[in-house]
Amino acid sequence: MRIVVTGAAGFIGSHLCEALLAEGHEVVGIDAFIDYYPKPMKLRNLAAVAEHPRYRFHEVDLRDGDLDPLLEGADAVINEAAMAGLMRSWSDLGAYVGCNLLALGRLLEASRRAGVGRFIQASTSSVYGAGAVGDEQLATRPVSPYGVTKLAAENLLMAHVATNDLPAVILRYFSIYGPRQRPDMAYHIFTEAMLDGRPIVVYGDGRQTRSNTYVADCVAGTMLALARGEAGETYNIGGGRVIELNRAIDVIAEAIGARPVIEQRDPRPGDQRHTEADTAKAERAFGYRPAVEPADGLVRQVEWHRSLRESRSTARG
Ligand SMILES: NC(=O)c1ccc[n+]([C@@H]2O[C@H](COP(=O)([O-])OP(=O)(O)OC[C@H]3O[C@@H](n4cnc5c(N)ncnc54)[C@H](O)[C@@H]3O)[C@@H](O)[C@H]2O)c1
Repeated sequence: MRIVVTGAAGFIGSHLCEALLAEGHEVVGIDAFIDYYPKPMKLRNLAAVAEHPRYRFHEVDLRDGDLDPLLEGADAVINEAAMAGLMRSWSDLGAYVGCNLLALGRLLEASRRAGVGRFIQASTSSVYGAGAVGDEQLATRPVSPYGVTKLAAENLLMAHVATNDLPAVILRYFSIYGPRQRPDMAYHIFTEAMLDGRPIVVYGDGRQTRSNTYVADCVAGTMLALARGEAGETYNIGGGRVIELNRAIDVIAEAIGARPVIEQRDPRPGDQRHTEADTAKAERAFGYRPAVEPADGLVRQVEWHRSLRESRSTARG
């Protein structure tokens, strides 16, 4: 299949492109290198596939770029592009509305014109709100502007499903982690701080829990949904085991061989308290089953941080 992946230089998108290429697909990657985090990190994400003979990359902004030539002949579109972190959404709503909603609208229109046979939308547990515990029937009550724009995106997509018969599927990802995790995300920040011997800042009491999903499980779930997800349906994609933040910090510290020094602060507005994905629907529909335990996945993430440091110091000579 020829598959267009947006957000291809990002954390999840770059892993997804690699996995699709490994399965023999032709991949068209799109990314605008939005400055939410530094471009060199995204270029590094792209490095593994940049020269692949079945991969083409286009630096294009979905908000205003010409999408028709990019979607020509595409069998499927997977939309991973977004402004993803929730804290900045309080102060930069325009960027979130632009990248999460308006960009999706343009991509949906272009997909319809191109006759794309499959559309996957990356959504989030943040659409549920402070307590994202349960299955897809849980009420959607987002508590951050980020969650609001992602929920609006889901609704926009469903309008296209209902009106234009767009064969689209929504995946609600739960806190993805692993190599290449975005630098604004907690485990990335904690690992870098502990490797430097700096204290870490924990918002809240550390008893909050997460249905953390290892990035390879997220990618596997996305590919299964691409093949067998039912059009017009929404599926949770979460990790198999819930982990408390304090426990995750201990696992990271152990992998590093450090003693964490924690500075506790008040919870931030819009932070989720507990997330626990019920993924039975995805398992029934397309056999999704997360395979990586948080304790193993966190160790792999720490190894990635270490390897980055080693390659930087080798480059400095
Ligand atoms: N990482 C998580 O824990 C998580 C959890 C739930 C949902 N999600 C969703 O998964 C998707 C991927 O997230 P990520 O963590 O990989 O984020 P990321 O920021 O690493 O990747 C997103 C990419 O999209 C690109 N992008 C944004 N707006 C664009 C535009 N207008 N035109 C072209 N490219 C644009 C960015 O440059 C970036 O490289 C997002 O839709 C996010 O909402 C992520």
